[in-house]
Amino acid sequence: MACMGLLSPVHAAVLTVETPNTQLILDATEGQQLALLYYGDKSATLDDIANSQQLTTNGQSPAYPAFGDIDMIHLPALQVQHADGDLSLNLRVAQVEQQQNVNYQLSIINLRDKLQPVTVRVYYKAWKNVDIIETWTEIEHQEKSPITLKRFDSGYLHIGEGDNVWLTHLHGDWAAEAVVTHEPLTRGLKVIRNTDGARNAHLDAPELMLSLDGAPEENTGRVIGAALCWNGNFELRLNAPNNSGIHFYAGIDPQSSEYILAPTANGQKPKANTFTTPHLALTYSTSGMGGVSRAFHRWARTCGYLHNGNGTRDVLLNSWEGIYFDITEQRIIDMMNDIAAFGGELFVMDDGWFGDKYPRNDDSSSLGDWVVDTRKLPNGLQALTEAAKERHIKFGIWIEPEAVNTVSELYEQHPDWALQVPGRELKLGRGGTQLVLDMTNPKVQDFVFNMVDELLTRNPYISYIKWDANASIQNLGHILTAQRSNSRKGGLTSNSAAVNNLYIDYHLGLLAVLERIRAKYPDIVIQNCASGGGRANYGLMPYFDEFWVSDNNDALQRVFIQWGTSYFFPSNAMAQHIGGSPYQMTNRVIPIKFRCDVAMSGRLGIELQPKHMTDEERLQCTIALADYKALRPIIQLGNLYRLNAPQSYQPVSSQSAPAKQDVAALMYVTDDKKEAVVFAYSLSNFMKQAPQRIRFAGLDPEKVYTLEEKNIRVQYNHTKNAWDAGEPCSLHGKQFTGAYLMSAGLILPLCTEYTQDFPSRIFYLK
Ligand code: GLA
Repeated sequence: MACMGLLSPVHAAVLTVETPNTQLILDATEGQQLALLYYGDKSATLDDIANSQQLTTNGQSPAYPAFGDIDMIHLPALQVQHADGDLSLNLRVAQVEQQQNVNYQLSIINLRDKLQPVTVRVYYKAWKNVDIIETWTEIEHQEKSPITLKRFDSGYLHIGEGDNVWLTHLHGDWAAEAVVTHEPLTRGLKVIRNTDGARNAHLDAPELMLSLDGAPEENTGRVIGAALCWNGNFELRLNAPNNSGIHFYAGIDPQSSEYILAPTANGQKPKANTFTTPHLALTYSTSGMGGVSRAFHRWARTCGYLHNGNGTRDVLLNSWEGIYFDITEQRIIDMMNDIAAFGGELFVMDDGWFGDKYPRNDDSSSLGDWVVDTRKLPNGLQALTEAAKERHIKFGIWIEPEAVNTVSELYEQHPDWALQVPGRELKLGRGGTQLVLDMTNPKVQDFVFNMVDELLTRNPYISYIKWDANASIQNLGHILTAQRSNSRKGGLTSNSAAVNNLYIDYHLGLLAVLERIRAKYPDIVIQNCASGGGRANYGLMPYFDEFWVSDNNDALQRVFIQWGTSYFFPSNAMAQHIGGSPYQMTNRVIPIKFRCDVAMSGRLGIELQPKHMTDEERLQCTIALADYKALRPIIQLGNLYRLNAPQSYQPVSSQSAPAKQDVAALMYVTDDKKEAVVFAYSLSNFMKQAPQRIRFAGLDPEKVYTLEEKNIRVQYNHTKNAWDAGEPCSLHGKQFTGAYLMSAGLILPLCTEYTQDFPSRIFYLK
């Protein structure tokens, strides 16, 4: 841990917040509004900025616009309703402090309202090793009664008039996550939000990019990236109301969730009168979308936003799509034998292992009853962990701690622990019986912590947890919440206050439990799963080592899903599994080589029943795992360059659908540029199809690289009457300079040498 520097007061009017290549410049004159003067690269001098007319119409742009301060045609980032009903704030700079740390510089600007006892502290944390600035605020009041936070964004940015701004964001669904959308920003208000309550990345996701030089490019152009570090409801707003450019706001969605902030007067908790917004991570790159992605990846890995961020992940077999709920001791041990034989390192037992009075045979019961179903596993978990140990593999297990089924012993004992509205019919989720536990209840928090704690203390060989979350918050209005919230927050007296706060306090409760778990179990690997990628966000990833990218393991669709996910998340966080064929969701038949190659570009795993595999599949998987383990540090920790998008992101006009590309290609390069791994996937295969040239990126132009093909496709040996190692392609062993690979590029043998659908290649460069 870096030692903390002291906060020192700063008296200069101009405050510069800087990272290695970017700067954010503020006017923090005491007694004035805090103004944002500039966010961009370091080429701009203070004179340039002062002489520039590219600010707002009045020449200044507030850094954190409050209702009451700003012109009413603009949207506020902050609006509170004071105890007396007043809706306004006039925030003025009272004090500025800075702290230098080995890893970052922290700037805190204290703003005070001119009338009411409200203080707002705006934070900027600028990292020294990566171009990321985190911003957030603390809102504190000394009013005699509660105040209501009606709008409380984490951050705000103003992009002046004159740029051709395009928005890139991810939209998706269950089994179709992270579809990339690129669109020009036009006049009016664009809102990206998610109101699931418990997860926030399946439909709209809390990250975006803003390309300032027109349609986005992968390696060129000025691009701002933003990621809201929050797992709950959010709203990203882009407003272009007049000729004042684009105003970007990011924060918690206040719908049904205006936050009631207690007075300190009778509160037992000293901070009850203070609300801290989630952090908003901002980056600015002059190297296109790729530069933004690499900044987020480096920040996640090195600045605490991905648990064990610099570590590599094991290769695993997960039981779900192989056997679903049909768990037996023998089946699990058979699967462990299979993953050990493939050269894997970890076996994960998914859903279906628990339930006593109500066995978990399908998704309609048992969540909450975290006891081994001894009908399926007569010798308990211990027999399984012993078996794993004997096979020299690790053991992992699935849980869904925040959920309960109405058909469960937990629900029979504590019906009030589930979020519900007394007197109203329950809205039920998965299996027709699923509810979400009330994570604001300290008893529920203890229950969840103790469940995990007992699982891990009783079974010390468990080294991996798959933490699932398959339900959204559907029932908002529990009366008991109010009583608990009273004691917790001190001074809130009404149920409506507690219900208002529930969408937020749920997540604060969850984070408190995760804190406790991580304090005791820093080394357990925990996967963040939510019906696939429903919780891929930086609110939770500090506690998790990886996330399940999607429930959809169809390798063709995975190329697209993984592509979009890589915009913001690093490859060692992305769990990618080799699925069966024909694939159960899409019925698509995909050769094993392509399925392996697609899964190998992130954290590799297998998700099928090995018993059903052909000899060809088994041999290809064994080769894939061996090659992957050798290349793992490059793939999991290297710098990502996306080379050829599966879909062109340059629409011919904004009306037309993006053109499909035939080849998707990406590569990872080590920091020292000495090694790289290239993945290329052909998405269509026609006779006489025109080949595509792939230009590499991120290499050392001077260096001569040797190409080695990896995970070479196996072939049938008619002499041996068996599947055998295949022959590498014509590029294997060839040498090229980095300069040539990046400027001329190569035509990779994809369409020409294969007669089978879905050709793909992996090359190691050294
Ligand atoms: C969710 C997960 C799956 C699997 C099932 C088990 O859908 O995303 O991977 O664990 O739950 O019920």
